[in-house]
Amino acid sequence: GEVVLVSGAASGIGAAVVQRLRAEGARVAALDRQPVDGADASAQADLRAGEAVAQAVGQLVSALGPVTSLVHCAGVCPAGGTLDDDDALWLDTYSVNVLGALRLMRQVVPGMRARRHGAVVLVSSINARFATPTLAAYAASKAALEEMARTAALEFAPDNVRVNVIAPASVDTPMLQASFARADDPDAARARNVQRHPLGRLGTPGDAAELALFLVSPRSGWITGGTFPLDGGAGVTRR
Ligand code: NAI
Repeated sequence: GEVVLVSGAASGIGAAVVQRLRAEGARVAALDRQPVDGADASAQADLRAGEAVAQAVGQLVSALGPVTSLVHCAGVCPAGGTLDDDDALWLDTYSVNVLGALRLMRQVVPGMRARRHGAVVLVSSINARFATPTLAAYAASKAALEEMARTAALEFAPDNVRVNVIAPASVDTPMLQASFARADDPDAARARNVQRHPLGRLGTPGDAAELALFLVSPRSGWITGGTFPLDGGAGVTRR
C-alpha cells in the first residue's frame, strides 16, 4: 500500500494533508519537531539536523514500510529576514526550507527509484516570485527550493519518480496568524491580506491539501517538474 511521509505534519497545511490522506486510505508517516496527532506513525526530529532526520525516517519505515510519496510541508517564515538580518537567520531559514527537503529526499527517494514508483511534493510560496523586503530570506529560500525541485524532477524522471511544487499565497494557519499578530492592528492586517486575493478569502489548509493529494496520486502521473500556484487568484494581480 501507499505510505506517505509528511513533514511539518503537526500544524497548518501538513496537519490537513495528514487528515485527508488518511481519509483516502493512505498510511501516513508524520515527521515534525513537535509531537503529531492522528498519523499512523510519527517521529519527532529537527530538519536542521541530518542525522536526526535519518534516524526518524528509519523509525517510520520500520513501523510502516517503505515510503512511496513525500510531502514536505515543514517550513519557517522568520520575523525579520531582511537583507540586513544576520547570517544565522538566513542559514536557519535555508536549513529548514531547502536543506530540509533535500535531507528528506535523500532518505526516501533512492527506494522510490529502485521500485520505479514515487512522488514528491514540496511546499514553496508565492513569495518565491514577489519581493517583500521583510521576507527576503524566506523568499530566497523558497525560490531555491523551486529550482532544486526542477533539478530533482529531471534526475528522477527516468525512474518514474515525480517532483512537483505547490506555491500558496496566504493560507490561514498558525504561521500566517503569527504574522498578523506581529502587526500593530492584527485585524486590519488580516483584512488587507484578504483583499490581495481576488477570490475574496484566505486559503484553508484543506485547499492546500487537495492539491498535494492530487500531485502524489496516480491521477497526476504525467506531471513532473511543475510549480503550481494555489493562491485565490493573487498571482494574477501581483504579476
Ligand atoms: P505552520 O507553522 O502552521 O506549520 C509548519 C510546521 O513545520 C510546524 O508543525 C513546525 O513544527 C514544522 N517545522 C518548522 N521547522 C521545523 C524543523 N526545523 N524541523 C521539523 N519541523 C519543523 O505553517 P504552515 O502555514 O502550515 O506552512 C506549511 C508550509 O507552507 C511552509 O513551508 C510554509 O512556508 C508554506 N506556506 C505557507 C503559507 C501560509 O500563508 N500559511 C503561504 C505560503 C507557503
